[in-house]
Amino acid sequence: MLQTFKKAMADALAEIREEKKIRSTTELFLLFSMGSQFDHLIKQKLDALGVFCLVADPASVTADDVLMIKPTGIILSGGPASAYENPPFDGKIFDLGVPLLGICLGYQMWAHHIGVPVTSSDKREFGTHTFTITKPSALLKNLPKKSKVLESHGDKIYVDDKLNIFGTTDNAPAAAGNHKHLWGVQFHPEVTETEYGEKIYENFCFGICGAKDKFPASKVADKKIKDLRLKIKDKKVLLALSGGTDSSIVAYLLKRSLEDSHQEFPHGNLQGNQILGVYIKGIDRPDDESNVIKYFGDESWIKVKIVDATDKFLTALAGKISMKDKRLAMRGVYKEILESEAKTFGADFIAQGTLYTDVSETGGGYDSGSKKAQIKIHHNVGLKFSLPEIQPLIDCVKDTGRNIGRSIGVPDELLIRHPFPGPGLVVRIEGEVNKEKLIIARKIDGIYIKELKKWGFYQTVWQAGAVVTSSTTTCTKGDDASDGHVIALWAVWSVNGFTARAAELPYDFLKHVSQRMTNEIREVGAVVYRISDKPPVTIEWG
Ligand code: XMP
Repeated sequence: MLQTFKKAMADALAEIREEKKIRSTTELFLLFSMGSQFDHLIKQKLDALGVFCLVADPASVTADDVLMIKPTGIILSGGPASAYENPPFDGKIFDLGVPLLGICLGYQMWAHHIGVPVTSSDKREFGTHTFTITKPSALLKNLPKKSKVLESHGDKIYVDDKLNIFGTTDNAPAAAGNHKHLWGVQFHPEVTETEYGEKIYENFCFGICGAKDKFPASKVADKKIKDLRLKIKDKKVLLALSGGTDSSIVAYLLKRSLEDSHQEFPHGNLQGNQILGVYIKGIDRPDDESNVIKYFGDESWIKVKIVDATDKFLTALAGKISMKDKRLAMRGVYKEILESEAKTFGADFIAQGTLYTDVSETGGGYDSGSKKAQIKIHHNVGLKFSLPEIQPLIDCVKDTGRNIGRSIGVPDELLIRHPFPGPGLVVRIEGEVNKEKLIIARKIDGIYIKELKKWGFYQTVWQAGAVVTSSTTTCTKGDDASDGHVIALWAVWSVNGFTARAAELPYDFLKHVSQRMTNEIREVGAVVYRISDKPPVTIEWG
């Protein structure tokens, strides 16, 4: 499947035709990705609506290319650039008459193009604001007069006669408006903080653009299984199996593709010789290993190997203080072990459960001309293995991956597990990682997760973690006065990890967890709770 549309060349047009055939549709939406961290969520929203959305490269697609593929509608995303600096985009596309929805920067770009003043504002607006509808419009049909929206912009669109403004916020007087076929909002309808975002995309696609066709999401899993079957045939795959949700979903996708493939390639087999799941131990959670054994240890279609790399990790991490250095050190060990196990096994591919979120935050993402900021280096991105990689969830965020998993029968216990980062407890320890801190990190995780489950909060929070910080506090335990580590707890509400709100856990619960940690773990001095949202913080501490 074409990942990014760059030019209306014969091969790209052929792929688009093929995809339309699979979906039995003549319709297609173009999403110009201008580099916002939320771009993929727009695609997710359109996928959820069942419309065919193709990501387009603003730096190379021209108005002529657009004319060749006749999109039903165009979406121009947000991004870090400013409209008046002329970010890469062919302005003639605005004049084609194709309905276009601009999000933040996208809106500012078309406003600037038609001559509405757009300037930098004194302060960057970030956060949730109340949005008020000031008059009826096709874009905001069936939305309540007031709702919450997430704004993130440093530039301002002026109120101007050329604009038909139909919504405002306290700091964006032209928060929603249109000019003929050009529509725009100065907030992000794709994030969960915007209450009626889905409805806005629905109104745009089906109301304004007149789309009619929907492609059921359940077919996505079938397509992935078919792609895997064609790629793997009777070859061997090493799967990095962590016991978490994403790699477990990949395991089941591989299983299904193997079952299909067995009919075509009977000399390949279902007796565990084709797939090796490698579990790397050392910086893991207390119950990960037993989980892998429980779900995959006795299966005939996968062989599981546990590799204890504790010493290797500790050696590589010795003396490393910054999170970036620690992430890089962890990646080095991870890569070395997978490479060596792949060689021993005679693998043809290395498979991982990498999500789009990981790629995007590492500064990758859609292969387009606009750049994204690197937030953190994920352990499983850009490793350049000597073998070809298989990453079936590379176009998914956590919850689309979960939906795929659910549709192919991955056990619920694996699907509802909180996400856990590949670099494991390394990102939950400040300063140098050593044996002592690893033991504390495991103990606090054990208490926190167990109590979240006991109090019934495990499933309501999207993810939670406990961090061994480098701060210490003087404490008195019994007759001793000593220093103890300050432990930072966090928990977030989110649907996809792109944005998150600090979960409002009850004081009684936090107090109880704090008491358990300080009473039961000698090295713990005090416990604090993080109340910041993402952004500005990332979900993990490091
Ligand atoms: P952040 O901390 O970037 O996390 O807001 C978003 C989600 O990704 C997880 N995470 C990682 N997952 N390798 C992974 O596989 C990594 O290097 C990594 N870093 C963060 C994090 O736990 C959260 O669910």
